[in-house]
Amino acid sequence: MPDYKIAPSILSADFARLGQEVDNVLKAGADIVHFDVMDNHYVPNLTIGPLVCDALRKHGVTAEIDVHLMIKPVDALVPDFAKAGASYITFHPEASEHVDRTLQLIRDQGCKSGLVFNPATPLDYLEWAIEKVDMVLLMSVNPGFGGQSFIPYVLDKLRAARKIIDASGRDIRLEIDGGVKVDNIREVAEAGADTFVAGSAIFGAAKESDPNVYDSVIAAMRTELDKAQKAA
Ligand code: DX5
Ligand code: ZN
Repeated sequence: MPDYKIAPSILSADFARLGQEVDNVLKAGADIVHFDVMDNHYVPNLTIGPLVCDALRKHGVTAEIDVHLMIKPVDALVPDFAKAGASYITFHPEASEHVDRTLQLIRDQGCKSGLVFNPATPLDYLEWAIEKVDMVLLMSVNPGFGGQSFIPYVLDKLRAARKIIDASGRDIRLEIDGGVKVDNIREVAEAGADTFVAGSAIFGAAKESDPNVYDSVIAAMRTELDKAQKAA
């Protein structure tokens, strides 16, 4: 039975009230905080760094924080994010000169490690390095921005990644990131994902000014995930 986890991406949160926003989604039933780090070099956007991760921990966030590094180079910031309280640190293999070294560094710093695959990036990097991987993250949009549409061919890639993970017999999460909504989360789960990043689908709903809006979106996602579980 897959243990499904919902990971709101704070990229779409109101940054002026970030602590409160994170408290609210966790109270609404989210499992993991997805933390998008962009450097205006590896991706054409600039977001947040270790100080903000540390601030969330100091604010009292105890949930797992899933730090998605869209930066190049990678290694210099790994110890900083570990110190700032990251639980997972994932990176794009194209952005690291030495993928094995970066995976090892993340684990040596006491965090769980992950590889992120852009939509068109093949899964080849997994073949040898899988024993050092705790999470595989498939991008279902090109990285850099929230609010883009899910690229349908990634469903086949999810099925391929699920096969590789199951064949390895290892405890590795399969996360999907980009364009995940209430109306496609079931299909994404049935293709093999067990961890679901959703930014605009969750935080974007706040604009409707309903105080329980996060509860209703996350509950609707869970209902869809229950259907996937029953169909499995
Ligand atoms: C994109 C980021 C995503 C983004 C997803 O580069 O990695 O985490 O926030 O946003 P939505 O869910 O709106 O596609
Ligand atoms: Zn992300």
